[in-house]
Amino acid sequence: MAQIDRERSATRIARDIQTLSGRSYTTTDEAIRRYAYTPEYRRTLDYFTGELRSLGFDVSEDPVGTLVARNRPPGEAVFGIGSHCDSNRNGGRYDGTLGVVTALEVCRLSSELGLDLPLQLISFLEEEGSGYGQMLLGSRIMLQRVSEDDLRERFRSIDDGRSFWEHAEEAGYEPARWRESIHVLDDLTGWIEMHIEQARVLQDREKRIGIVNAIAGYVHADVTVHGRGDHAGATPMDLRLDPTLVLADTAIELERLATAAGQGTVGTIGEIEVDPGLINAIASSVRFSLDIRGPVDEAYLGVADEIGTFAVASAERRGMRAEVTTRQTLAVTRLDRGIVDALLRHAEGSGEPYMEMHSGAAHDTMCVAERIPSAMVFVPCVDGISHHPAEDADPADAALAAEIILGAIGDLA
Ligand code: GLV
Ligand code: MN
Ligand code: MN
Repeated sequence: MAQIDRERSATRIARDIQTLSGRSYTTTDEAIRRYAYTPEYRRTLDYFTGELRSLGFDVSEDPVGTLVARNRPPGEAVFGIGSHCDSNRNGGRYDGTLGVVTALEVCRLSSELGLDLPLQLISFLEEEGSGYGQMLLGSRIMLQRVSEDDLRERFRSIDDGRSFWEHAEEAGYEPARWRESIHVLDDLTGWIEMHIEQARVLQDREKRIGIVNAIAGYVHADVTVHGRGDHAGATPMDLRLDPTLVLADTAIELERLATAAGQGTVGTIGEIEVDPGLINAIASSVRFSLDIRGPVDEAYLGVADEIGTFAVASAERRGMRAEVTTRQTLAVTRLDRGIVDALLRHAEGSGEPYMEMHSGAAHDTMCVAERIPSAMVFVPCVDGISHHPAEDADPADAALAAEIILGAIGDLA
């Protein structure tokens, strides 16, 4: 069992988080907001690069900007650790970044305790979809779960509508070589991602550590309803084709369907775009997103199917037309029993309260696990609040996670 100075690790983790919450690492005062190819994101990568180089790691980036740092030459086996350091547009300090900071702490501990574990840290590009509306983009590129057309044409910047490809090139990357990103995984014998839980199971059960054995699957889709734009004052109620009513019907039906499906199924309409979006005009069209998830594939996939059919029928019933397009679907990911067990052993050895659990949120590990035996470690976040500036977590729990991960890799690597 690796013995670490938990207090010292907690202090270092708190300092990293404090630094990366500073004004030069977020594009706004109101939240942590950083995403691919912004100067704030670049500075975040530079911070990790500097820290890792000072530990003697070789640091590089894949063709689109996923950060890779390793302490062994190419061709030698390494154990993977990391997460993402981009944020939700309305994000907090911990989602993703705490996982990369904790991975960095594992690298520090490995060298200062003289363990010299073979390690490769990865910080994935665009996990949150904050730049291009595409969650897990860096890891999906790595696992070839996108097409060239997606990158060249379909995936467009939320800020300016220009393509991902154009932005990547402008930032100095080589998106034309995106298929080579898979080689980042070539030497990995295993992968562990640490993350805040983003729910309140750990807090409510008074556990400090969650060992994750599965990650919920999801469907991301868009519904566009075409109505008829008109005057809000002069148009009688019975002569309207108002697409916002289909949105309203669908929101209520989604709540009903997800609740009825049970088994952890959840559904959210998170983006709403009303065109033209004026107080005195009936909208001509509405676009809204669907985020439907759960730990049981049949359950959330069933809801996704039914809600799409419902929205189209609701539009027709009201004399309008709606279409549903899927952005992406990712099945429930089961994690590796051997790595989960090693983590459980070291959690037990730590003497601190822990439990085995599944993740409701999505993670890059869903992609990595396709090729590499993978698992995750969760730490509590206050009241489960996440994807919000109020997000809060305890660096002492992250230090404990670092100890457990270090011990597990010691057994496995
Ligand atoms: C990832 O950030 C998610 O929304 O699960
Ligand atoms: Mn995250
Ligand atoms: Mn997130």
